[in-house]
Amino acid sequence: MSETLTAGGTRKLQIWRGDLTSGELVDYELETEPGMVVLDAVLEVQRSQAPDLAVRWNCKAAKCGSCSAEINGKPRLMCKTRLDHLPAEEPITVEPMRAFPLIRDLVTDVSWNYRVNEQITPFTPRENLREGIDVKDGDFLIDQADTDRMSEFRKCIECFMCQDVCHILRDHRMHNRYYGPRFMIRMASLDMHPLDGVDRLDQVADEGGIGLCNITKCCTEVCPENIHITDNAIIPMKERVVDQRHDPFLKILGRTPNKGRVKPPARSSTPEL
Ligand code: SF4
Ligand code: SF4
Ligand code: FES
Repeated sequence: MSETLTAGGTRKLQIWRGDLTSGELVDYELETEPGMVVLDAVLEVQRSQAPDLAVRWNCKAAKCGSCSAEINGKPRLMCKTRLDHLPAEEPITVEPMRAFPLIRDLVTDVSWNYRVNEQITPFTPRENLREGIDVKDGDFLIDQADTDRMSEFRKCIECFMCQDVCHILRDHRMHNRYYGPRFMIRMASLDMHPLDGVDRLDQVADEGGIGLCNITKCCTEVCPENIHITDNAIIPMKERVVDQRHDPFLKILGRTPNKGRVKPPARSSTPEL
């Protein structure tokens, strides 16, 4: 994409206005200041021209993940997208995320993601490390390499832009068959934890639907935290699922990836949107 740097001036915005029943892009024009981001512009429109414009934001520091929108057709954080990094010759379009139900204007209902999250058993220490079973000082030490590998995934700010861009959710609307990339990284971070005692690989494959991912890497491209979702989480998990389920030599040797981990409690099917 071409980048045109400007020092303020008049800019045109087209902001989606409407609800689930109807809506359209509405034109606005405003005077901008150097360094403004799209969220500044939208809030200025709200202040001066459209006080009923619905927009969600909290931190204005690219850390809370609440201002996700589709800017010029691509998922981005409004508070991290500078106006002078967008082509000056055309109006800037600002639309709500399409993968989730619209509430109003730029605000979508992302609660499906929280229902998916509830399906995932949180970190559970291996049986020999659980409280009351003679845990000693140092038993919870892990290698720095393991920490480094998992910490990338902990940077997630739950903006859900990776979910929004994933064609399985966005275009094919398979919310009841695929957890989406955000939850693939959550499950990967648990699966890679050397002290975790739960085997979630069947869940990743069945309810999680990892087989539907065809590694297009669109999720990685939009992640504001630069998490390598596909290379570092989804691909290794796919390999581990295949090893666990289909590698005859590992089975003969008794070395399946999650040997010794317990199955998670019974879980319900993948939530509907
Ligand atoms: S790589 Fe997989 S999870 Fe990511 S956007 Fe593509 S299909 Fe979706
Ligand atoms: S993985 Fe990246 S894009 Fe996806 S929710 Fe987390 S921060 Fe957002
Ligand atoms: S307002 Fe918090 S990430 Fe944009």
